[in-house]
Amino acid sequence: MELTATHTRIEPAILYLGTPVVLISTVNPDGTPNLAPMSSAFWLGWRGILGMAARSQTVRNLLRTGECVLNLPSDALAPAVDRLAMTTGTTPVPQWKHDRGYRYEPDKFGTSGLHPVESETVAPPRVSECPVAMEAVLEAAHPLAEGDKDLEGNIVVLEVRVQRVWAHDEIRLAGTTNRIDPNLWRPLIMSFQHFYGLGPRTTPSTLANIPETAYLSPDVARSHT
Ligand SMILES: Cc1cc2nc3c(=O)[nH]c(=O)nc-3n(C[C@H](O)[C@H](O)[C@H](O)COP(=O)(O)O)c2cc1C
Repeated sequence: MELTATHTRIEPAILYLGTPVVLISTVNPDGTPNLAPMSSAFWLGWRGILGMAARSQTVRNLLRTGECVLNLPSDALAPAVDRLAMTTGTTPVPQWKHDRGYRYEPDKFGTSGLHPVESETVAPPRVSECPVAMEAVLEAAHPLAEGDKDLEGNIVVLEVRVQRVWAHDEIRLAGTTNRIDPNLWRPLIMSFQHFYGLGPRTTPSTLANIPETAYLSPDVARSHT
């Protein structure tokens, strides 16, 4: 490691330092499916925490129906995800998006070239090509920067509870029933608006001495009812 490395204070306009891309499917008021890429997402137990523009069609649909599917594309699906960039299911296109070149797109699946498959517990479809797809219901919506006159109302933080996890057999850990093999799962990562994959596993992980089952959430049993 470089001992003399120094930090320089910087003020980057965005802090998109690398997070997995999620394609969220929801249902529009007319019953058609919407599909939107996002990457401000992380997981706590069987809950997903999602940061979304409050005026996106995805948020409107989620607040209205309480249902979504979180589809996780592999890095190989970057071209399909990119075909959804700069599109919205909202018409008319909100001013901020209009000014940046976004267009209204009612046929997100057709545009992406991806295919819908019927879900088991929610109305929005899964994306067939995504190696991981999680059916989920909305549990809470928290406004970001509440009380800040410049920021409030722009972004909402959604807490969703997962009800079904679907995985392609190609990424499952051999000899197990409920595990994904991290050597085979190649998530698509967005870093500073560009697409990346993961490199190979590096240093052996001390944390990985804890068995995955030690983290089992009561939400898993709840999803059976
Ligand atoms: C790779 C990628 C990552 C994105 N991440 C987010 C995000 O985390 N949150 C968000 O609100 N929008 C994000 N966007 C922009 C949304 O896709 C955009 O707001 C889109 O218009 C939403 O579609 P909808 O209005 O049909 O829901 C991302 C776009 C791309 C291409």
